[in-house]
Amino acid sequence: MNDLEQLVQDAQAAFALALAPADLENAKARYLGKSGSLTEQLKALATLAPDEKKARGALINAAKQQVEAALTLRRQALADAELDAQLKAEALDVTLPGRQRGCGVLHPVSRTMERIEAIFGSMGFDVAEGPEIETDWYSFTALNNPENHPARSMQDTFYVDMKDAEGRWLNLRPHTSPMQVRYARAHAEKHRGCDPMPEIRVIAPGRTYRVDSDATHSPMFHQCEGLWIGENVSFKDLKVVFTDFFRNFFETDDLQLRFRPSFFPFTEPSAEVDIAFSSGPLKGRWLEVAGSGQVHPNVVRNYGLDPDRYIGFAFGMGPDRLTMLRYGVNDLRLFFDGDLRFLSQFK
Ligand code: DAH
Repeated sequence: MNDLEQLVQDAQAAFALALAPADLENAKARYLGKSGSLTEQLKALATLAPDEKKARGALINAAKQQVEAALTLRRQALADAELDAQLKAEALDVTLPGRQRGCGVLHPVSRTMERIEAIFGSMGFDVAEGPEIETDWYSFTALNNPENHPARSMQDTFYVDMKDAEGRWLNLRPHTSPMQVRYARAHAEKHRGCDPMPEIRVIAPGRTYRVDSDATHSPMFHQCEGLWIGENVSFKDLKVVFTDFFRNFFETDDLQLRFRPSFFPFTEPSAEVDIAFSSGPLKGRWLEVAGSGQVHPNVVRNYGLDPDRYIGFAFGMGPDRLTMLRYGVNDLRLFFDGDLRFLSQFK
């Protein structure tokens, strides 16, 4: 083997030993670099006689080509290996299930609201919404609860030191009862001249506010008001509507209702409504679910109607309480903390 063949063989071996592109480039420098062994060979040509130069030059060039070819091959091999490794590292298992986009759900209280609206809707009740910032007149006075009367503390709310454009004091409504008056007045106005006036049948769900906070009371909570006024609407109708509603809502006929005498300024007589299940974990326990009563004549007058002619009942129930009972939740505050661990259980 002559020196050039030896050199080619050494170069090939060195390239094969290079395991990374940087090693390969170092090896290349040793043969083809400025002072690489092949380059030195070419420089040495200068010392030869012209005829020797030609033959030797051809041999060196042939050797150089072989070295370059080996280099190209090894470069390619290293690049392929690198790509292989990268592909392996980034391997994608296309058989894995796709990443799912999280899907939100209705808040449990919203679900209850929708249920209440659907059930009362099926009984011919309209659904109305009203302002959460309410005037003193609608929150109390119009509901037969005079200024400075101690009965106002039954629905103690947050008062703001602020009046509306017409100089009326404002508060965060402590109940949805103002909606009785707002809706009935608009209804009476709309049907002025109709004799008799079409019946008022409405529910008004929404947020309400009180100065209360513990496991069963929250400063912000929900109520749903109900009102049915006509020429001949009685407590008996209230009983039928409620019985129907609660059996539908809880999807059971195994449920009893009790009207317990009570007091509200806006109704006379007034009753607290309790329900009891005949089976299940709450079996036999009376649970308060609503306030109700026959609308007081003074309130009917504030509707803009003649209390000697129009009569009916109103009620206010607590959708939060109903949600707790329906889903077996024991702390009201869970509904308003926004904790996803709780809320996502309602998927
Ligand atoms: N507004 C009452 C409250 O928040 C509940 C209520 C009782 C509403 C009797 C009514 C009613 O419409 O007739 O405590």
